Amino acid sequence: MDTKIIKKITLDYIKQAKSSNTKITMLTGYNYPMAKYIDESGIDIILVGDSLGMVELGYESTLPVTMDEMIHHAKAVKRAVKRAFIIGDMPFMSYQVSKEEAIKNAGRFIKEGGCDGIKLEGGEEVLDLIFTLNSFGIPVMAHIGLTPQKVLTLGGYKVQGREHDAAIRLKKEATKLAEAGAFAIVLECLPAGLAGEITENISIPTIGIGAGRRCDGQVLVTYDMLGLFDRFRPKFVKQYCNLSAQMKESLELFIKEVKNGEFPDDERSF
Ligand code: KIV
Repeated sequence: MDTKIIKKITLDYIKQAKSSNTKITMLTGYNYPMAKYIDESGIDIILVGDSLGMVELGYESTLPVTMDEMIHHAKAVKRAVKRAFIIGDMPFMSYQVSKEEAIKNAGRFIKEGGCDGIKLEGGEEVLDLIFTLNSFGIPVMAHIGLTPQKVLTLGGYKVQGREHDAAIRLKKEATKLAEAGAFAIVLECLPAGLAGEITENISIPTIGIGAGRRCDGQVLVTYDMLGLFDRFRPKFVKQYCNLSAQMKESLELFIKEVKNGEFPDDERSF
């Protein structure tokens, strides 16, 4: 029997990490084996991100991702995870059409997907929804800066908040999101100085992606940092290994060994 006691990461742990200056770690997870390795490595938060649309399902952007696809992947992640806090990412048009639909879809992540909270993109336009979800007991992580679900109006995947007015707006939004009840905020593709200022002026933790080192935590898309997605690599990604090269090498070796009769050998035959 495994007697090791695994302490689950709680909402309180994440909230308190900021005051105790403990960096928060978050990675995306989409399927059972990957989520298992990520969880066993000691990560704090696993985000079932809508980025799965691009890196796992092969869509051009995150826009086509559906709630059913997200729930399918969240369930697989949940089956693998014992320790990490799991967040389900609300896909495009799952919370924009009406409050009723948003509540129903957020609830699906908790009831069907087994998630511990949800994430949604946006500033002013989601404040009321965050308050409502919180009042129903659903923890919400906010996401501002480069919000990929607005790629069409943003005109591409670009750094946000470089201009004075945009920086002021982002600072105000971060404060209001904290006041509305978000328990943390993802800051994506912001100048490091601006992300630092936001971090130092709000009460909830910031999790940066392309937002410099002064954030309270960091997140990356796991397939990017493991070298499993080669369509493009943003400047902020550090590739910790090159799994796609290792995979290709192994796959080619299998084919070669079958063709030349090396596999299976006597040891692997009955
Ligand atoms: O979907 C995702 O992976 C995300 C992260 C980039 C924060 O939203």
